[in-house]
Amino acid sequence: MNEKYSVIVNKRLVEAENVVVLDLISATESPLPEIEAGSHIDLFLPNGLIRQYSLCQDPSLKGVFRLGILKDEASRGGSLSAFNDISEGMQLQVSHPKNLFPLLDASHSVLVGGGIGITPLITMAYDLLNNNKSFELHYCAASKQTAAFVDEIKQGPLASYTTFHFKDDGANHREFFDHAMKDIAKDSHLYTCGPNGFMDWIINLAESKGFSSDQLHKEYFQVDIDLGGASFEVVAQQSGKTIQVAPEETILQALAREGIKVELSCEQGVCGTCMCDVLEGEPDHRDVYFTDEEKESNEQILVCCSRSKTPRLVLDI
Ligand code: FES
Repeated sequence: MNEKYSVIVNKRLVEAENVVVLDLISATESPLPEIEAGSHIDLFLPNGLIRQYSLCQDPSLKGVFRLGILKDEASRGGSLSAFNDISEGMQLQVSHPKNLFPLLDASHSVLVGGGIGITPLITMAYDLLNNNKSFELHYCAASKQTAAFVDEIKQGPLASYTTFHFKDDGANHREFFDHAMKDIAKDSHLYTCGPNGFMDWIINLAESKGFSSDQLHKEYFQVDIDLGGASFEVVAQQSGKTIQVAPEETILQALAREGIKVELSCEQGVCGTCMCDVLEGEPDHRDVYFTDEEKESNEQILVCCSRSKTPRLVLDI
């Protein structure tokens, strides 16, 4: 669904030194849609970039989208614009909520957040609480000072379900989970969000303790994708153009060079916005959006990051 909403920044505050928390409400008569735990929205930033941010709130709260965005100095401009350019009262555009990280029915859910990756897990925790489901929330961070939403969790209904693992308090989450994992019921589902290395570590640990891959779920919010490779040819069937994609160029950039526009958002193979149908050739899928089965079918490609295994790729654009 590509529906967009005009919103107003109803509240802006900075938490934990470098996390901006935005409460967005509808700027029109139309109410904002209800949200599901694990969902995110595209935020159209003042500097023209579009970025995905997880909703971080009690999902039973209607009429508001709350985001927690880390100011990342190494970012490609998205988080810096969110942090520096957005003020209270400003009008912005957002997408309809999308959910690539849904909560599944389980006897028990283990939510493990690393740093700003806590945001979707807070929404999940409220949802599980509201539905009287069994869960535990773990918040791993360098220190309380740099961790957002700590006071809210400590002073609210999630407190008794939450374990904080702050490194500067002497916590060692690696040791903790290495021991704790054996006590987690084996039909539990585990959800994690955080830096890629953090998520890989917790997923690998859970697998080594007997959890199956369908019980393990992770949310990508920052992805390192290898965009390079050999040159190849793309035929844009509808436009009647044949374009050479250079070794360090993406298909998206090559198409734009020839005036062919494809809608885009994350530019990291995460959101699915730049999807195109493949008519001929075999894509070299580099995204984290498609399932393995979808990748094997080779029916579609995400042109912001994926390349071609064949010298020629024909796309239905
Ligand atoms: Fe998000 Fe390509 S723009 S997957």
